[in-house]
Amino acid sequence: MSKSAKLELGEVVIELPIIEGTEGERAVDISKLRAETGFITYDNGLGNTGACLSNITFIDGEKGILKHRGYDIEDLCENSSFLEVSYLLYNNRLPSKDELAQLKAQIKEKSTIPDGINSLIKSFPKEAHPMGIVSAAMVALSGHYPHLLDPDLSDEQKSEIFPLMLGHLKSISAAVYRHGKGFDLIQSDSSLDYTSDFLYMMNGEKPNEDVAKSLDVLLILHADHEQNCSASTVRVVGSSKANLFASISSGIDALWGPLHGGANQAVLEMLEAIQSDGGGYEKFISKAKDKEDPFRLMGFGHRVYKNFDPRAKVIKGYCDTILEKLNVQDPMFDIAKGLESTALSDEYFAKRKLFPNVDFYSGIIYKALGIPTNMFTVMFALGRQPGWIAQWKEMIESDGARITRPRQIYQGKTDEKL
Ligand code: SDX
Repeated sequence: MSKSAKLELGEVVIELPIIEGTEGERAVDISKLRAETGFITYDNGLGNTGACLSNITFIDGEKGILKHRGYDIEDLCENSSFLEVSYLLYNNRLPSKDELAQLKAQIKEKSTIPDGINSLIKSFPKEAHPMGIVSAAMVALSGHYPHLLDPDLSDEQKSEIFPLMLGHLKSISAAVYRHGKGFDLIQSDSSLDYTSDFLYMMNGEKPNEDVAKSLDVLLILHADHEQNCSASTVRVVGSSKANLFASISSGIDALWGPLHGGANQAVLEMLEAIQSDGGGYEKFISKAKDKEDPFRLMGFGHRVYKNFDPRAKVIKGYCDTILEKLNVQDPMFDIAKGLESTALSDEYFAKRKLFPNVDFYSGIIYKALGIPTNMFTVMFALGRQPGWIAQWKEMIESDGARITRPRQIYQGKTDEKL
């Protein structure tokens, strides 16, 4: 493969370098394009544009491969905990036993949120969507940790902020749930592991091992996903040298949308609509195919996966296990499986390579674990936070880090006169 690409633009011919990644992806480096030709590129939705070089996560959308720091997601789900994967994402290696014990201890210390944050949470109407409250609480933390606002954090500060963010988001998420129910807060129980403590702070009961393990696997499956909408948002906000609290709060906001992390809530609402409509899929599949109808099959399709989403496969398999272990009969699971098989046998979805994504089955498990629908996207954020922080750290540490500022093609009025 040539190390450069030749581009002919009328009279102008330039050579552009070709970059090749360690997993064989190739890109044409257009960093000099405008300076040398006056042209820019245009790529609606940036589906063909690499925004950065990264060592964190690799996705092969055609083969349904997802790896974090070289480890297959299936391997990590089977053999690691969410905190081990979080450490891997942030530090580019799995923790030793002592390092994991230290991370756990630091998170336990950081599982009590400032009183001012609890008051902020309680200031919201009970009906407020949890994602808005969590995002507000996250950026409000900047007022409580002024020594961690320096955009160029020292290594010591980077070691401090990571467990603080994991511990605080866990407690904020549980507090937001309790507030929405009109319940008093439950303080962290330092004898419990991360996932068990979250569930305990949510509902006051210490979960059994199966429940805790299922949620731990779900958090691993959401931990990072390269340059998705919310991770890109974290990078863009962080590129202005805004602090990590602001960057993560922005990532939470981007995740809220139903085309992104909000899809897991929209899937359950769609399945419930199918059930209340008598359980027929055909009407909803027809709506999803109708270009005049804005309805989309939620939990289906993906910008990168043009084959199965490996995370959806793992979650679907877990649904069977956890429903059986919890002795839960959830008609939504049968409706989801029926909808999947009906859609996948329809030419519209096959032709567009639309398969279930991570959000299609995750709500079935969240529901079985007693997590309400309006908290599903908060669960996504809880899982994704270590990935966002790892992406942010990689961005601020990268050589020649620049503020993200794309160009545009202007198509507006010209030569207006007052
Ligand atoms: C996540 O990027 C990530 O990695 C995200 C994520 C992560 O871990 O961070 O994986 C998490 O966000 C998963 C996606 C959750 N969202 C949904 O499930 C919402 C439903 N899905 C769609 O809105 C859509 O598939 C997207 C948003 C996921 C992807 O959108 P794209 O890449 O912009 O695809 P597109 O809109 O260009 O669709 C291509 C075609 C279009 O039809 P044509 O114009 O070619 O005729 O497929 C159709 C679309 O209309 N299509 C769908 C569809 N998804 C795409 N038609 C019906 N139902 C759908 N779900």
